This record gives sequence, structure tokens and C-alpha cells, in this order.
Amino acid sequence: MSFLRGLRCRECGTLYPVDALFVCDECFGPLEAHYDETARNAHVTRASIAQGPRTLWRYHDFLPSEYTPRVDLSDGWTPLIRAHNLGRELGLRNLYLKNDTVNPTFSFKDRVVSVAAAKALEFNLPALACASTGNLAGSVAAHAARAGLPSYVFIPADLEPAKIQSAAIYGATVVAVDGDYDQANRLATEAAETYGWGFVNINLRPYYAEGSKTLAYEVAEQLGWRAPDCVIAPVASGALYTKINRGFEELYEANLISGPLPKMIGAQAAGCAPVATAFGKSTREIVPVKPRSLAKSLAIGNPADGRYAIDAARKSGGGIFSIPENAIAQGMALLARTEGIFGETASGVTVSVLKKLADARAIDPDETVVAYLTGNGLKTREVIENVAHTRIDTAPNLESFQEQFEPRVFVVA
Ligand SMILES: Cc1ncc(COP(=O)(O)O)c(C=O)c1O
Ligand SMILES: [Zn+2]
Repeated sequence: MSFLRGLRCRECGTLYPVDALFVCDECFGPLEAHYDETARNAHVTRASIAQGPRTLWRYHDFLPSEYTPRVDLSDGWTPLIRAHNLGRELGLRNLYLKNDTVNPTFSFKDRVVSVAAAKALEFNLPALACASTGNLAGSVAAHAARAGLPSYVFIPADLEPAKIQSAAIYGATVVAVDGDYDQANRLATEAAETYGWGFVNINLRPYYAEGSKTLAYEVAEQLGWRAPDCVIAPVASGALYTKINRGFEELYEANLISGPLPKMIGAQAAGCAPVATAFGKSTREIVPVKPRSLAKSLAIGNPADGRYAIDAARKSGGGIFSIPENAIAQGMALLARTEGIFGETASGVTVSVLKKLADARAIDPDETVVAYLTGNGLKTREVIENVAHTRIDTAPNLESFQEQFEPRVFVVA
């Protein structure tokens, strides 16, 4: 049984039935899932959650879709790892990494797609589709394949080849748009109206966005039902960031964790940082930008949830910050060499913003900090081609190897 009662306009509060709707007819505000929270909070307990599967569906009471094995690729319930080495480099004694690079299609998008795909099946929609900066395309294609639906993914034509292949292999029709994400998204919105397909992040967006709340639930449960002091996540449309925040709020309202709730830190790269810029200017009005960033997964110049991300940053005592483009690959390399995790550009952005704040002593060294690693580096290899590394070219014999190799000299005093 779902506690979903309908959709509600985020701006004016008008209520709508459970349907493939996303904009308010009254004020054009975005629609959100609306639950019977009183009934849910009376029903859900830590024990009821613990009885669930080791996937994001263990939190189905907080989700707007019914579980179905037809979309289940075992999404979510990813590791939360204590990061002693990276923590030491950054001067943070209680740093954790939420490793969502190990989801079935190697990004957190499997969470949102799993929830949206289940809804598409409930609504009997004929196909699954999306506008994507890369990771979403692969996840939509995989879940559509599992559900036995055709899929259509609208992407900017200049995406990383690995991201395009990661959608194509599952049988998706790849619509490569000669333009940026915001243009691909506009075309996809028109296609949603014309064909009636289930666009996970357009006409199914109110359901889709809810999947990201599971990133908060899992972290709290993995910490022993406790909220961290501070979390840091990348920001593109702002949906992930605002829903992580909402997830912690919901756990608090359901008495599953006590306060205080975490400070929310958002991370963007300088080549596409409209939300960080607005935060820095103390406004919630986002001025759209033309993205020019190596972090293509975060390259949304006109972010749909940007103003709500700024609200969450302010209310939680956090903030949204950017780092220079050359810090993206540095962040990826720092993460990989300290913790053995190869995150994508978005993780490079996250780690570099964390480093910037830690270096500036803006984070207390004893705080419990959780950094969300949302995508896998193998899909964005291009950006690390010039990162310094050690390589020895040798003929296949020991002599040749020893000629090239200068062993470290250990002086024993
Ligand atoms: C790896 C990764 N991290 C973070 C994000 C940001 O998500 P959102 O658009 O919900 O802000 C994306 C979006 O595509 C992504 O692919
Ligand atoms: Zn409205």
C-alpha cells in the first residue's frame, strides 16, 4: 500500500490526482508527490524498514510507486564507507563516502528511474523516455529493457561516448540533439506532449524526484539511525540535492532520527554554476547560463529546482559552492588515490568543493560529513587523460624492467 494521496503544486498548493502531470494549471509551478504523512508516520518503524529488501524499496512507505519486480535491477542500498585516508588529507576526522558509483548502471540515477519506471507501468504508458546529461539515459534504457518497454533518450550530441554507448547497448533509441541539455530538454518536453511516453524527468518528474530521498534514508540507517552533521552532493537541476534534504526531514518527522538535521552543501563546477552563483549573491532567482563544463553530467544551465536548492541550503545552514574547471580531474584523482574509488566528473566536483571548504576551515574537523559519489569514472575517462601517473614501459624481461625502474633507496640509520 502506498501513502501517496496525489500531487500538489509546490508554489500555490493546488492539489491534483495521481497522474502523469508535472505543472500546475493555476500558476505553472512544479508538482510534487503528496502523502498522507500522518498515517505513514504512525505506521513506519525502524523494524518495518529492516524487514524490507536490501534495495531502495525497503523505504517503499516513503515512495510514490508500488514495488514491481519488472523494474527491479537491485537499485540502491549502496555502501557507506568510512574514508580515513581522504579524511586525513582534508583534515576531517569523521568523513564517509556514499558510494553510488556501484549502482546497476553505475550512477544514483537508478534510484530515480526505478521509482519512475514503476509509475510508468502503473499508468500503462507505452514507452520510457528522458532528457539526459548522460547517466539518466543509461538508467532509463536499462530499466525499460527490464520492464519490456521501448525507450527514447534525448541527449546533447556532444556527450561522452561511454555515456551514449551505455544507453544504446540496452536497446534505447538515442536521440542526439544538436544543442545543449536545456535544448534537448525543451525538445523532449514537446515530444512528451506529442507521444504520451513516460518521460521520467518530465511528465513523471514528481514521482522520479522522490527516488533521491532514499540517499538520505540509507545514510541515516547505515549510521545507526543518525543524521550526519553535514552532507555534500553535486547539483545539476537541483533535484538530487533538494530531495536528499527532504529525505532527512521526513525521517525526523517520522521520529526515525533525532535532530539536528544536516547542513546541506551543494557542489558545482565553474563552467556551469548558476545555482552557486545565485547562492553567492544571496538571491534565489537563478540567471540561466550557457554550460561550458567538463562535468557534463552537471551541465544544466537552467536548473528546474535551483531555487528550491537555495532554500534548502539556507534553511539547513549549508551553502552551494563552485570550484574551477581544473579542479574536477584533481578531485577525481584525489578520491581514487586515497580511497580506491573511481568517481566521475560529478564526484570530482564534489570532492574538490569539500576540499575547498575543509581547507578554509568552514567545516569543523570533528563533524560527521557524508559526501555523495553519484557516478562512475569509467564513463568520463576523457577528463583524466592528462592526470599525472607513474608508468614504466618495459620489454618482457627483468633486465629491461630494472633499467627503467629506479627502486626507492631505504636508508637505515
Ligand atoms: C552523476 C550525477 N551526479 C549528480 C547529478 C545531479 O542531479 P540533479 O539534476 O538531480 O541535480 C547528475 C545529473 O545528471 C549526475 O549524472
Ligand atoms: Zn500552482
